[in-house]
Amino acid sequence: MDGKTRYACITLALEAAGTQITTLTGLMHGEQLGAVQQAFVEEDGFQCGHCTAGQIVSVEGLLRKPPDPTLEQIREGVSGVICRCGAYPHIFKAASRAAALKKGAR
Ligand code: FES
Repeated sequence: MDGKTRYACITLALEAAGTQITTLTGLMHGEQLGAVQQAFVEEDGFQCGHCTAGQIVSVEGLLRKPPDPTLEQIREGVSGVICRCGAYPHIFKAASRAAALKKGAR
């Protein structure tokens, strides 16, 4: 919301009125996946997919601050979205891969 990550579950509709909202779909570039989405695909950053939208948006927000986060910063950055499948090792790899993709690495 206005470039900052927010948890939709604790955001009142009134707080969102008049703000610019970017959702998971808004991270795409036309038909192409965004860097974070692509990284999650490449690193199998999901299992059932229930938490995936929140994880991807969290990583997107994380990478707007330190473009090259440490593992500890990644762990903290996604800590607000619980993955019941325990896919964290892959989620952390996907976050690192996303940072590399955003820097232009292939
Ligand atoms: S992939 Fe199933 S809850 Fe995260």
